[in-house]
Amino acid sequence: MPTALPAGHPIYGSGPVDTSPISLTPALGDDLDPIWKAVVPETRTRGNDIHLPISLAYAQRLCDVFPEADRLLVRVAIQLHDIGWGRVDEKRILAEGFSGDWRKAAIRFEHERQGCVIAGEVLPRLGYEADFVRQVCDIIDGHDTRREAHSLEDALVRDADRLWRFDHAGIALASGWFRMDPAVYCDRLADEIIPELLTAAAIAMATAELTRSRELLKTAVIR
Ligand SMILES: [Fe+2]
Ligand SMILES: [Fe+2]
Repeated sequence: MPTALPAGHPIYGSGPVDTSPISLTPALGDDLDPIWKAVVPETRTRGNDIHLPISLAYAQRLCDVFPEADRLLVRVAIQLHDIGWGRVDEKRILAEGFSGDWRKAAIRFEHERQGCVIAGEVLPRLGYEADFVRQVCDIIDGHDTRREAHSLEDALVRDADRLWRFDHAGIALASGWFRMDPAVYCDRLADEIIPELLTAAAIAMATAELTRSRELLKTAVIR
């Protein structure tokens, strides 16, 4: 069940905050493997096969900070939140989804809608209850286009969806989508994305990861 969104900004949790490189804590366990296998074709679009597993690893770290969160709901929602990209016109993704006022682009709404359609196809077949599927879709729907989170689980998915970009793999992929060089993209992460993070834990993880990525990619020099 979704947990009420705690008051305040940023949101503080009670568990330990791990700011080490994300590759040190991949998402272990095989309980989500049947879902991964069911959406392999949809993961081949827009780097989802990189974005989704890294974001899942961050989501699990955030759940460790918020033990009261519905862990399965957060994990499945982050796993499936962007699979709708697999069913929209690929040529339109970079042309419309990553330029101009991209948060309001029609294709953004379309990938959220299609993500809910796919979740509704895949999850019941694998034995997930209708109520759980509805909660997953409540998070997927509007994950890019809604300004505010409506539950703690929604907030953790939103933060995990941003955190992956701070890892060097995220910078490599996403800087290309926005047609920015890595140094400029790192500046944008600091100026625009960190202020959007909802939890203090995500801010700490993003800040530590960005410091490491900037050093690794020599962004102070190569700009
Ligand atoms: Fe998205
Ligand atoms: Fe995403």
